[in-house]
Formats: sequence, structure tokens, C-alpha cells
Amino acid sequence: MIEIENRLCGIIGQRGTGKSYLTKILAETKGIRVIAFDTLGILKIRNAKPYSVIKNADILQQGIAAGGLMRAIQKQSISFNLSELSTGEIIQFTDSALRIADFPPTKWFFFDEIAEYVPESSKQSQELLRLIRLGRNRQITVTVNTQRPAFVSKKVWELVDVLIIHRLVWKNDLDLLREVLSRSIEDYEEIVSQIPRLRDQERILLDFRNREWGRLGSV
Ligand SMILES: Nc1ncnc2c1ncn2[C@@H]1O[C@H](COP(=O)(O)OP(=O)(O)OP(=O)(O)O)[C@@H](O)[C@H]1O
Ligand SMILES: [Mg+2]
Repeated sequence: MIEIENRLCGIIGQRGTGKSYLTKILAETKGIRVIAFDTLGILKIRNAKPYSVIKNADILQQGIAAGGLMRAIQKQSISFNLSELSTGEIIQFTDSALRIADFPPTKWFFFDEIAEYVPESSKQSQELLRLIRLGRNRQITVTVNTQRPAFVSKKVWELVDVLIIHRLVWKNDLDLLREVLSRSIEDYEEIVSQIPRLRDQERILLDFRNREWGRLGSV
């Protein structure tokens, strides 16, 4: 299994390559005290209590309530379904929830479609960026996924410790990866050249701390 504890883990790849499925499996493997943010309402994590955020209601108040839930978490896992919300509301909810939660006792956060929360070129959730920046010093693991890494804030990729890479073909995504990988991996061109040819559910695991990479088998 993939070791992501106390780390920022990014799962990237084209549509339908298996990112959400892997996110769900990782969340279920952790078992307890998992918190998932799900903008499509698809994660359905086993044993996680579903909590739907409702449109046309006070988003800030719902965020405050969600933050309180996260603070009070014992062993329960929670999955927030944000599928009714607009992009602006997703950020508003996330900011208010994480501000109140303020590094809750949970150790595991999972965000599906991270570009909704911290896009590169529009308003970003500052509280999520704070969780990503400070979480690992507080034994918190954050796992995020996206089909368009080039659309996600560069701050995320500057801090990422583990990358799980599925097939990507868009030039902007591959250029971004080249830039991120060249920071610490010597044979980054070899990795980037393999990425467009990966099949569905085939992935490359890249560990920035240990400067290691390799093909990952099925999970
Ligand atoms: N390891 C697997 N075993 C069985 N089915 C899988 C596996 N991985 C993915 N799938 C299935 O493949 C389909 C696409 O997977 P998934 O939704 O995880 O892709 P995705 O990368 O998140 O796509 P998108 O970018 O559209 O969100 C789903 O129906 C999922 O259940
Ligand atoms: Mg998905």
C-alpha cells in the first residue's frame, strides 16, 4: 500500500483514469477519523457519515456547523457532499469549516477535484492552503486529486511530498510536471515521457522526500 502518512499526497491524471476510486480506497484503508470533501457527491466512503451541504441555505452557518463536527470527531469519519454548491460557495464553505475546525483531531483529509478549492487563477480557499502548509507539522495527512494539475495553485505542487501520476497528455500539465519534478528528481524527463502512454489505472508513484519513483501496481 502507498505510504502517505503525515504527507501531502497529490493524485493526478486525465478523466476516468481512476483518481477518485484510488482516493476512496485510500480513505477506506485509513478507517477512522477520515474527513472527505466531495464536490461531485461520488466518493461514498464506507463507514463515513455523509453530510450534505444544502444550497439556498446559509453556507457560512453550515461551514461553522461542519467545523464543529470536525472538532468533535472521535472515531467517526465524515464525508461532506458539496455537489449542490457553486464554486464560490464551495470555497466559502471550506474556509468557514476549516477555520472553525482549526486542525481538528483527525489525521486524514481527502479532497476530490482540488481545483475547485484552490484554482491557480481565481479565488482560493486560504484555510485549505493553511491546512496544506501547516498540517504536516501537526501529523495531518492531506490527499488531493485533479484531472488538470496546471489549473491548481502552484502552492500545492510546491509542497507536495508524494505524487501518484496517471495518464496526462495536455502540454500545460506536462510542462507543469516537468517544472515540479525537476526540483528534486534527476531523471524527470524519463518520467514525463512515460506519462502520456499510461493506461487507465496505471500509475507512477513519485516520492519527493526520498527522491524515488516507480510504476505502481494495482491497489
Ligand atoms: N482499480 C479499479 N478497479 C475497478 N474499477 C475502477 C478502478 N479504478 C477506477 N475504476 C472505475 O473506473 C471509472 C473511472 O474511475 P474514477 O471515477 O476513479 O476516475 P477519475 O480519474 O476520478 O475520473 P474524473 O477525472 O472524471 O473524476 C469508475 O467507474 C471507477 O469505478
Ligand atoms: Mg474523479
